[in-house]
Amino acid sequence: MTLFPGITKFLHGGDYSPEQWPPRQWLEDIGKMPEARADTLTLGIFAWSALEPADGVYELGWMGEVLDALAERGRHAILATPSAAQPAWMSRAHPEILRAPEGGKRNRHGMRMNFCISSDYYRRKCAAINQALALRFGSHPALIAWHISNEFSQPCYCPACEEAFRAWLQQRYGSLDALNRRWSTAFWSHTYSAWEQIEAPGADGEMSCEALWINWKRFASDQFASFIRNEAGPLRKHSPSVPITTNLMGTHEPIDYWRLAAELDFVSMDAYPAFDARPEMVDAGIEHSFVYDLMRSFKRDRPWVLMETTPSSANWMPFMKLKRPGVHRLAALQSIAHGSDAVLYFQWRQGLGGREKFHGAVLDHTGSSATRVFAETADVGQALERIDFLQGSVPVAEAAVIYDWEVRWAIGASCGPARDHKDYLPTCLAHYRPLWEHGISADVIQSTEDFSPYRLLIAPMLYLLRPGVAERLEHFVQEGGTLVGTYWSGIADEDDRLFSTPFPGPLRGVFGLENEETDILYPDESVPVAAREGNALGLRGPWSASTFCAQIRSHGADILARYDGEFYAGSPALTRHTAGRGEAYYIGFRSGPDFLGEFYGKLCARLDLPRAVPVDLPAGVTARIRKTSETTVLFLLNFSAERREIPWAMAGSVDALTGETAGRSVVIPPHSSRVLRWPAEA
Ligand code: GAL
Ligand code: ZN
Repeated sequence: MTLFPGITKFLHGGDYSPEQWPPRQWLEDIGKMPEARADTLTLGIFAWSALEPADGVYELGWMGEVLDALAERGRHAILATPSAAQPAWMSRAHPEILRAPEGGKRNRHGMRMNFCISSDYYRRKCAAINQALALRFGSHPALIAWHISNEFSQPCYCPACEEAFRAWLQQRYGSLDALNRRWSTAFWSHTYSAWEQIEAPGADGEMSCEALWINWKRFASDQFASFIRNEAGPLRKHSPSVPITTNLMGTHEPIDYWRLAAELDFVSMDAYPAFDARPEMVDAGIEHSFVYDLMRSFKRDRPWVLMETTPSSANWMPFMKLKRPGVHRLAALQSIAHGSDAVLYFQWRQGLGGREKFHGAVLDHTGSSATRVFAETADVGQALERIDFLQGSVPVAEAAVIYDWEVRWAIGASCGPARDHKDYLPTCLAHYRPLWEHGISADVIQSTEDFSPYRLLIAPMLYLLRPGVAERLEHFVQEGGTLVGTYWSGIADEDDRLFSTPFPGPLRGVFGLENEETDILYPDESVPVAAREGNALGLRGPWSASTFCAQIRSHGADILARYDGEFYAGSPALTRHTAGRGEAYYIGFRSGPDFLGEFYGKLCARLDLPRAVPVDLPAGVTARIRKTSETTVLFLLNFSAERREIPWAMAGSVDALTGETAGRSVVIPPHSSRVLRWPAEA
């Protein structure tokens, strides 16, 4: 489905701040757009003091001029609401709008995202200016989307937020008795006898009640969602046909983005990958594929939008290394391959002053288009035009990795079992990696999503089980799905209370085993693991286990591999349990790419999961398919520093960017990309 009515191309453009420039500059900067094949500017993100210079005094005329100029030239605008940075006069008159970080002491005015998400006054002022913007520009021909605020990131810990938290808790638990019970507050005499006693968590106060911590994060996520709803209200009322988004930041820990995504018409995100032409660039490539798949998974029926990225380097990075030639196009095409319908930048024009004056931009500080960066941006613009027919299509996946914010919070909150090495997110990435290396598309979902679209479900470290998840996993397997789980799963309920049955709690049935203890190794220790002769997957091993070694007792599960050292030598390390028409694998140990590569390689082959190309990909390269009913497009992305060759090309395929007929193999230069296309039915 197309995100923007009437637009049939990928968007290309970026943030522009006319308020930082004299009006005569605007037309010149906009005038350079066609040369870069750019069509869209995002306006007004940090323009509140220009839009409302004094309380209730709106000056929207200048914004109107910029929008008119864009419309006259057939270009588009994404218009931001300005709540990301309130004017100084507002903080002065109403200091209660300022954000209080952990500890509860309010900040002074400054920076950005420095407001309280619960403040009535702030919410009213946001709604008022949004209404003014929507009334004035809501049906402007240049306007294609609303961009609410900017990168919601940290909650506020002020008294108003604490009060809202208590109301949220009353709603969730009904009675204080229930809360005390479910939060295990009898521990260390933490029983609450009145709601007022519940404070926000913090290093200077309560940090020993995991349930408080997890629920605070749930509340904060809901509070951000309600902040967005408040902002969206006037936009939906006065500009009903224009879709709404806010820019997310990948796997950003403090906010459960599923709760935010539900408020949005489309998902967008800002990505600043460190594609620095060093060996780690492959890891950064995998990580960005993962977050892009997450963005797509929030709304599986539509594309998402890469709202910000830099055409060169970002000034907040420790080293502003220049992007090597071709890297920018690789990065841009990666987002498109994963389902983005746009490549937008921070920023269109580099400013002359302020904290971001050194940040990369399409037009440099002189406004010149005769630069290397501009040429590479124009090259991306041209590449996008050649594959515009893909706009509106959505890549599909038959596999999914569960990455769940609540699980992340709970694992992080607990004391034990491996203080600095719990590594939930890195573990999710490690399990995603082999799929990436095989060019297999995967969604990235939370544990409460519908599992039925998938044949393979990977649930690393599913420590916390939200209500119904165990039952749904069981159902998934019964119905023929393949589930992969690991150590440190099925430990606690949603208030971080341990299941009173052996681990993995309600997952014992589906995996057919019990996990009595878990041995935690020091970083310099490992335990060998040996494949069992004739195991169902044909695994060979040997491998080595690190950090986590679950002690497993099988209750009906087949043993595919055993520990080969320590006092538990000979006991199960990897099992497979058949339940109904499907099967559930349990990986008892943490492992490196040696095991995960072999395991997922064999498993994906057994399941015959679709690979983008039917041959093994060289190291550092991934492949993705995006298609329409007429045309299939193959993206080959090389994050390595080597020239890579794939000894395969679809018969009848052509290079989608150059139009040349593909040969019998495809060569991808270092840090670069190739795009092939062929008729869908071929
Ligand atoms: C983003 C932010 C932009 C800009 C950019 C610089 O996080 O949304 O406003 O600051 O970073 O990289
Ligand atoms: Zn607050």
